[in-house]
Amino acid sequence: MPSPVEILPPPPPENVEPIIRVQDFHAAYGPKTVMKDVSFEIYPGEVFIIAGGSGCGKSTLLKHMIGLYEPAGGRLFIDGDDIGPADDALKAKILRKIGVAYQGGALFGSMTCLGNVRLPLEEFTDLPGAAMDAVSMSKLKLVELEHAAHLMPSEISGGMQKRVALARAMALDPKILFLDEPSAGLDPITSADLDSLILSLSRMLGTTFVIVTHELPSIFSIASRVLVLDASVKTSVAIGDPVSLRERSRNAWVREFFSRKGFDHRSDPPLSPGSLS
Ligand SMILES: Nc1ncnc2c1ncn2[C@@H]1O[C@H](COP(=O)(O)OP(=O)(O)O)[C@@H](O)[C@H]1O
Ligand SMILES: [Mg+2]
Repeated sequence: MPSPVEILPPPPPENVEPIIRVQDFHAAYGPKTVMKDVSFEIYPGEVFIIAGGSGCGKSTLLKHMIGLYEPAGGRLFIDGDDIGPADDALKAKILRKIGVAYQGGALFGSMTCLGNVRLPLEEFTDLPGAAMDAVSMSKLKLVELEHAAHLMPSEISGGMQKRVALARAMALDPKILFLDEPSAGLDPITSADLDSLILSLSRMLGTTFVIVTHELPSIFSIASRVLVLDASVKTSVAIGDPVSLRERSRNAWVREFFSRKGFDHRSDPPLSPGSLS
């Protein structure tokens, strides 16, 4: 019997349908099982964090949630539709509702910032060119980078590049934004600025955020709830708000994960017991 995931506050809101529902999810690469028996729900407007040590499967889970891979077992409902077995037409409908910024997701270096943000509009809409420019500009405005529209990615800072990637992910007004390690490689101050931007976008637009990160300052400043994956047991071990997880988890490794002191902002958290095996 798998041990059940520990559920800490906050409780799910009443009478609100989850926007994402993951049921008994299993992931494998060929014969190698990465994760099993993972179930959780995400509610509209949450800033939901997927956390855990390096290699525990955070990116794998996110890639399944956006339909890049078919699950080895279980189901992943995105706004009511099961993305796992979805055919191309259904997948296109689902993808139209989500925006993604991949881990280290680079901008196209040969295009301006505006050109990068415009790409999803070119791919998914028939808007006239001037309208595409206007929409792209409005997204750059949301991330406070209107002035960088005509600069090349190489001409702006790393923090600004992340914000352009965020603007690109928002190009189609997604209901859900998936971000994989958005602050990787940023210094603590730039990373804190990105966190404030994510929070204000979530409040202003009501967009649901699903963010992979293990960076404690980000987790404590933006998370509604956190799902904790543990590579040593290849499943999720706890879900809840970060303060409850730090103070009250029955799992010592989870409490430790959320209490790391003097952690290096850019490095991975301690490996969980057994994750080297
Ligand atoms: N495309 C792939 N093929 C085979 N194994 C993979 C692939 N991607 C990831 N893995 C393995 O799956 C596990 C989880 O990886 P990943 O989801 O990238 O973890 P995280 O994002 O938490 O660091 C790791 O053991 C990794 O080596
Ligand atoms: Mg990853």
